[in-house]
Amino acid sequence: MSRIKEEILQILKENPGSYVSGQQLSEKLGVSRTAIWKHINGLKEEGYGLESVTNRGYRLVEVPDIVSESEIRSALVTKVMAQHVEVYETLDSTNIRAKQLAEQGAPEGTLIVAQEQTQGKGRRGRGWTCEKGLDIYMSVILRPALTPMETAILTLVAAMAVVEAVREQTGVMASIKWPNDIVVDGKKLCGILTEMSSETDYVHYAVVGIGINTNRKGFPPEIAPVAASLAQILGECVRRSPLIAAVMNAFERRYGQFTQSRSLAPMREEYTALLVNLDEKVAVYRTLPGSLQDKAEVAFTGIARGIDEDGGLLVETEDGMQTVISGEVSVRGIYGYV
Ligand code: BTN
Repeated sequence: MSRIKEEILQILKENPGSYVSGQQLSEKLGVSRTAIWKHINGLKEEGYGLESVTNRGYRLVEVPDIVSESEIRSALVTKVMAQHVEVYETLDSTNIRAKQLAEQGAPEGTLIVAQEQTQGKGRRGRGWTCEKGLDIYMSVILRPALTPMETAILTLVAAMAVVEAVREQTGVMASIKWPNDIVVDGKKLCGILTEMSSETDYVHYAVVGIGINTNRKGFPPEIAPVAASLAQILGECVRRSPLIAAVMNAFERRYGQFTQSRSLAPMREEYTALLVNLDEKVAVYRTLPGSLQDKAEVAFTGIARGIDEDGGLLVETEDGMQTVISGEVSVRGIYGYV
């Protein structure tokens, strides 16, 4: 989008509900009224709901669900995250593209967003389904001065940021299924996949990939019982760009806290309060070696009490408090997925 169009939109957004005259816009932006009129028509063609009234000017009545660099930027309050944004119509996977860019030296905070993924990746070798133009597929490049073990905890930090952004933007009271699934009403709303390039004690870069089921109305039969979208919960469409920006805003704050303290200590209590299974009975499953799928055996059961500073889940058992380390096991409530 051209700079003038972006600035027109910004001015109209700053004056919600009121008209801004062509004369005012032309003086502010230093271009003719005819040029303003042409840009306004361009914006209408892109889907923006703009009213033009003779002798009064222009008014923004509806901002559609457009995923674009300028729509994301206009809602950012960050210094590092998403200062460089790339939006694609189609990618194999935003994580794959982010890793390519990271290899080429892209700076920390670079954000990759796609309308569609043809090879979306989930954890443990699974896939991540896609419906073009409806959901959020985003990956951010990070270059943390942390060890690989510390960097792995970033997934929990991202989960917190997503929950905070979803709650703030939509009012949907999502929770965290430890360590990093975001759930509502027992169904998964968002998944996070962190990948990194590292040596034993040094991280070249990490890519945090976030998939948020936003506006789709249904899911393939095999995941329909355990998946939900924001639109299904709210009964209306959610604008994706402000939500993407809100995730970045929340993530920058949490990432700063995490990298400074090199632990979850500054957000431990808040993360714990967001746990879906807090103070409830959970079963800890030991994933069987060599299996990518869900083959697992129950190791023990107990009551989930929160997390420790390293992101381990504290489970109270008859033998005392046990710390469950992410990656080694999976944890479920006793009644199914959550
Ligand atoms: C999970 O299995 O829960 C993690 C799913 C992560 C999906 C997101 S969508 C954006 C990014 N690109 C990918 O290929 N995967 C992640």
